[in-house]
Amino acid sequence: MSCHKKAYITTPIYYVNDVAHIGHAYTTIIADTISRYSRLSGLDTYFLTGTDEHGQKIEHSALARGKSPQEYADEISATFRNLWDEFGISYDRFIRTTDADHKAGVQKAFLKMKEKGDIYKDVYKGHYCISCETFFPKSQLVDDEFCPECGRATTVVEEESYFFRLSDYQDKLLEWYNNNPECILPKSKRNEVIRFVEGGLDDLSITRTSFDWGVKLPEEMNDPKHVMYVWLDALMNYVTALGYGTDEKNMDYWPARVQLIGKDILRFHAIYWPAFLMSLDLPLPKHIAAHGWWTRDGEKMSKSKGNVVNPKEVADAYGLDNFRYFMLREVPFGGDGDFSQKALIDRINSDLGNDLGNLLNRLIGMSGKYFDGLVKSDEVVQYYKAEIDEVNESLAKLEPLMFEMQLHRYLEELWRPLGVANRAIDKYQPWTMMKEGREAEAMALNGLIANILAKVAIMLYPVMPQVMQEIAGALSFKISNENWSSFIKGDGMLADFTIKKVPPLFPRIEEPLLAHVEPKAEEPAKKDEPKKEGKAKSEVKESEGIALIGIDQFFQTSLKIGTIIKAEEVEKSQKLLLLQVDLGEAEPRQVVAGIREWYSAESLIGTQACVVANLKPAKLMGMKSEGMLLAAKDENGLSLIRPEAPKKSGTAIG
Ligand code: MSP
Repeated sequence: MSCHKKAYITTPIYYVNDVAHIGHAYTTIIADTISRYSRLSGLDTYFLTGTDEHGQKIEHSALARGKSPQEYADEISATFRNLWDEFGISYDRFIRTTDADHKAGVQKAFLKMKEKGDIYKDVYKGHYCISCETFFPKSQLVDDEFCPECGRATTVVEEESYFFRLSDYQDKLLEWYNNNPECILPKSKRNEVIRFVEGGLDDLSITRTSFDWGVKLPEEMNDPKHVMYVWLDALMNYVTALGYGTDEKNMDYWPARVQLIGKDILRFHAIYWPAFLMSLDLPLPKHIAAHGWWTRDGEKMSKSKGNVVNPKEVADAYGLDNFRYFMLREVPFGGDGDFSQKALIDRINSDLGNDLGNLLNRLIGMSGKYFDGLVKSDEVVQYYKAEIDEVNESLAKLEPLMFEMQLHRYLEELWRPLGVANRAIDKYQPWTMMKEGREAEAMALNGLIANILAKVAIMLYPVMPQVMQEIAGALSFKISNENWSSFIKGDGMLADFTIKKVPPLFPRIEEPLLAHVEPKAEEPAKKDEPKKEGKAKSEVKESEGIALIGIDQFFQTSLKIGTIIKAEEVEKSQKLLLLQVDLGEAEPRQVVAGIREWYSAESLIGTQACVVANLKPAKLMGMKSEGMLLAAKDENGLSLIRPEAPKKSGTAIG
């Protein structure tokens, strides 16, 4: 097999009858992530997105607003482009189907298909759904009238039309699906397509005469009343963007490596598109990858319900990179996803804050305290070979996951090195090493953590470009193809550096930041909203004698999982034990706990407990106590409250 050193990645082109919502952002963010990975790994990459501007639906939307279709398309197309620019989407071309070179390319393609004998003229009799821009045979309509896709009434059309001999491509298409198991991803979708095509294909009407907002037929056809069917026009964008039929200088990017689409437009991309390409004697894309749909708080999003999530609003409130991470991590590719602020906040606080952000803070804390911020890598392998090997093993699994669209698994796998790093600190205890004068080991541990963070930052860069560059900055290296080759493919290590302190990258979010995006029933009061009169802090409502508090009050208490790494009896006290508890911070906390009657010191070492982590330090028998363990006591004695299964030290409870 020849090695295609170029990678062409496309999104669908978006209709200009509406502004971008989270579904559009999702497709674009996936494509941007793959493109960034592709460039990072040294492939010559071309990333295409754009807008789909012709057709009856757009013509209607424009007229309804008293605008010409072109004016209207200019306006909405610009909103997409501006949003992608604000989001830093790394597209190489933003194509518009109203671009002159695109229109010329579509006309060339029409002529080529005609020469090939794939186009003939006839009369189309049938039903057309303007909203879906799709023809349907009567047999597929609901109650003989309504669109099987969107449920809207169809219009009866009887007009002269050119047809594409799609039926001739049935066998060739089936051969393609069968010989290329990964041509349609996820594979379950490929099976759906195969079943559909096996059922037989009708020829496709590819021109219209009843409206005018579209690409005209080539002059050579001498048939000016026809415009191209919008899907022929639209699909062709993937090659006209590279110059097909005009200036073909970028055509060597074709065939595409990945063409991203939503599951609703699979039929057009998995059947019509490859058939058109075969007719044009062009090679077929490597992957057509169909993702699922986003709902909001369990409901389909629609303008009429007023529950459409605005991606810019979410990114502004929660951080663009956090939003990108959430979308890609939350749903397995191909499955449907549900957007809720709760799920987003959980991902930010837990995956990003606890696992990643906290690790950087621990490194800043450790290296700052023991080595004036200096981090050296020269003895990492000598002391921590097992950890480095485990990390490299995870990293080696990542690339195929990216190109096969297993992005949630990519991220899951990428969290394993973070686990290795966090566990190494708990296990090797740099504070103990320093007390015992094992400085070289402690420095090597610093180096281990820094190198793991650097490797993770490189591989996470395609998903979270801004924040990973900040992490790289703190570690004094650059995210680049050279460093990808060295740290990911080779066994390169960071040069000695002095760590730069950065403000916390993922400050904990305690409550939804967008009040109006919350489901109505549970809408919480905004943080800074004045409290309603007569309702003092914890007296909102009394129920069975217990003062009810709001969630915000609850979250004022920081509860965390702590690992008891040392425990000793306090001389002169029958009640107190002196504990060292690891809360995932640079140093363990000292906690004086009145639990000696129920627990021996030895029995506690290595166990976990729930800790109140933001209590003001207190002194008990002259000893500083920097936290409190949660426990429950009844007539049978006292039990510590512990997680059901071991959790990483410092994991937030809530
Ligand atoms: N113009 C056509 C595509 C032509 S490609 C040659 C089109 N445009 S669209 O604007 O309606 O949709 C574009 C993409 O957005 C599709 O891939 C679609 O799946 C995706 N989404 C629209 N709503 C969505 C969700 N609620 N969730 C996820 N993606 C969704 O179709």
